[in-house]
Amino acid sequence: MLTQADIQNALKAVKYPGFSRDIVSFGLVKEIFAANGAVSVSLQLTSANPAAAQQIKEESERVLKALPGVKRVRVEVQQPAAGQAAPTNPFANQNRVPGVKRVIAIASGKGGVGKSTVAANLACALKHLGASVGLLDCDIYGPSIPLMMGVHERPTISPREQLVPPLGHGVKVMSIGLLLTDEQPVIWRGPMITKTIQQFLMAVEWGELDFLLVDLPPGTGDAQLSLCQTVPLDGGVIVTTPQEASLGVARKGIAMFNKVNVPILGIENMSYFTAPNGERVEIFGHGGGKTEAKRQNVPFLGEVPIFTEIREGGDRGMPVVVSAPDSPAAQAFIEIATSLHRQL
Ligand SMILES: Nc1ncnc2c1ncn2[C@@H]1O[C@H](COP(=O)(O)OP(=O)(O)OP(=O)(O)O)[C@@H](O)[C@H]1O
Ligand SMILES: [Mg+2]
Repeated sequence: MLTQADIQNALKAVKYPGFSRDIVSFGLVKEIFAANGAVSVSLQLTSANPAAAQQIKEESERVLKALPGVKRVRVEVQQPAAGQAAPTNPFANQNRVPGVKRVIAIASGKGGVGKSTVAANLACALKHLGASVGLLDCDIYGPSIPLMMGVHERPTISPREQLVPPLGHGVKVMSIGLLLTDEQPVIWRGPMITKTIQQFLMAVEWGELDFLLVDLPPGTGDAQLSLCQTVPLDGGVIVTTPQEASLGVARKGIAMFNKVNVPILGIENMSYFTAPNGERVEIFGHGGGKTEAKRQNVPFLGEVPIFTEIREGGDRGMPVVVSAPDSPAAQAFIEIATSLHRQL
């Protein structure tokens, strides 16, 4: 028996003509129906281009017919009439970053839950596992990646007039903090943020990367929107602490990624603290992240306890995954990196 999920999975093989992204992730699949070997799918396009519609219809029919047990296939493609103003798709201008296999955003609803800490350690953990990794800081008002990765060099300009990202612990790093030298705060409006983030993605020589991790500011503002509009994201990691005050806003982050069809993964940070006498203290409660992930059907990557070494590593630019890879703190991140690798 084929399920709707099987059919949806099969349709992921159908790319939107001219894009590297598939019709499912673009949210074009409206209805799926399957019974007794017959499959019926309804697609809604936002463009009036008849050639694109035809190509998508043929491709979809082909992949569906190839499914085991399928005898009849009906693919209905709806699109706005030619001449009628098609609804503008804000994601139509997305492009992949050349050479980068996966772009993964690290987000949260609330501030200070440890996004940047997770991003820095996860980048180093993926590197530790043998991947080539970049780390892009999209927190324009409060960049913390240069400090946490111990990178203070200014990026150079390549002969192709691209910014060359400096290396921190073998990870390619880019941040507004590397470009602005003085202690002046950045006071920019939305369009400047958008422009900067576009350049950070497209005008930086990232080279061949297995993972580009993107550290976001808290919430669902200009940076998040710009990122989602500029590149198709392969994953959105939501970091939360266990207490309701953080989980409540984490739901907004989940809703944001859901809207743009980005696969979501969850991490609980500051899960608990082990006192010097060995007693386990659940400062913010425990398990809220896992429970919420389950409730929302989001894969849970793991939890990171509170360790003094994690905070110290952040402050001295040497993530604990690099300084003490065998410590329990580092192992928590390495386990998360391993399950991230497995999930994507
Ligand atoms: N598991 C942990 N154990 C100990 N300290 C931690 C842990 N996670 C984060 N911290 C510390 O908490 C502080 C806040 O973390 P961080 O800056 O990573 O949060 P953030 O979510 O990126 O914040 P913002 O929303 O401002 O970007 C930092 O000093 C960091 O070292
Ligand atoms: Mg941060």
